[in-house]
Amino acid sequence: MRKIYIVGTGSFSPERVVPNSYFEKIVDTTNEWIITRTGIKERRMIMPGEALSDLATPAAQRAIEMAGISPEDLDLIIVGTSTPDMLSPSSACIIQHKLKNKKAAAFDVNAACPGFIYGLSIAEKFIQDGSHEYGLVIGSEIVSNRIDYEDRSTCVLFGDGAGAVVLGPSNGNGNGEILSSHLHSDGSLWELLNVPGGGSRKPPSHDMLNQRLHVVKMKGNEVFKHAVLAMVDVAIEAMEKNGVSSEDIDWFIPHQANIRIMETVAKRLGIPGEKMIVTIHKYGNTSAASIPVALDEKVRSGKIKRGDLILMASFGAGFVWGAVLFRF
Ligand code: ACO
Repeated sequence: MRKIYIVGTGSFSPERVVPNSYFEKIVDTTNEWIITRTGIKERRMIMPGEALSDLATPAAQRAIEMAGISPEDLDLIIVGTSTPDMLSPSSACIIQHKLKNKKAAAFDVNAACPGFIYGLSIAEKFIQDGSHEYGLVIGSEIVSNRIDYEDRSTCVLFGDGAGAVVLGPSNGNGNGEILSSHLHSDGSLWELLNVPGGGSRKPPSHDMLNQRLHVVKMKGNEVFKHAVLAMVDVAIEAMEKNGVSSEDIDWFIPHQANIRIMETVAKRLGIPGEKMIVTIHKYGNTSAASIPVALDEKVRSGKIKRGDLILMASFGAGFVWGAVLFRF
């Protein structure tokens, strides 16, 4: 089987910065509570009228530029998201149009926060079998218009963003490759985290909106427990599959949901704090965008270098969870 490489990374965040003090004015919370319980200091949110593809397209363009290819070279575009521009068509098709690409197979993957990990794993298989050369994988989410600004336990957590990678059969120097990906789900736990309204079960209606069914419903402490267990398990699975230990990992990039979840997972894996990439203080939980945004930032800052061994793990609504181990 041929090797698959990450040949470019990119990200894009909205300009509007929303500090914790904003929430102190609208719900019963404090900056101190939010920082100590979640690690979040501020998050980015779109302006009215903006949508997912407005963030995801520039993120993709940056990844394509780093890859040194042209958008027309892409023959696969996968967008991990649960907040597309519209119900139909897919955001992947809208982004394909914005990139002026005509030949790619383009589709969205709804796997909540691990949407990027799921997309990466799917793209890897398409390229591995030789049928596709260059794949664009985007993780992007607009959570700001899906949260309940009257529910203090959820509204403080989320932000908007987009991150992307280009996968290809060579990175030009043979240094680095995707080693393995691991995906899991347990649909029996879907009720612990969901957005119940707006789909076919509870279609758009005044009644649905009045009942506030179009926003995130979450049993936070239940999600917390499952997230820790699942991310630890799948990270160990990825390391065991490749015969590496936590000491071999150069960088751990967990889903940026809550700093306490991230620190607990890293500790249980035996990965020291200084090897964990943290961006949650700046962006909050950006769901499917959190890992590719963190990856891109640290690649561009020079922290992550070619040859580094990187473990990514994520968890989210479904429940779904997954990990990818790769050498950059
Ligand atoms: N400000 C002040 N107090 C608050 C706030 C707030 N913003 N939110 C909740 N509280 C209160 C609660 O009302 C509760 O008060 P009570 O004891 O009087 O009832 C108290 O704090 C403790 O509530 P818990 O829910 O037990 O608080 P916890 O420490 O678990 O933190 C949190 C809540 C931050 C939501 C945490 O459970 C969490 O991060 N869970 C995981 C969420 C997650 O990872 N989601 C994403 C995964 S999937 C995805 O990304 C889409």
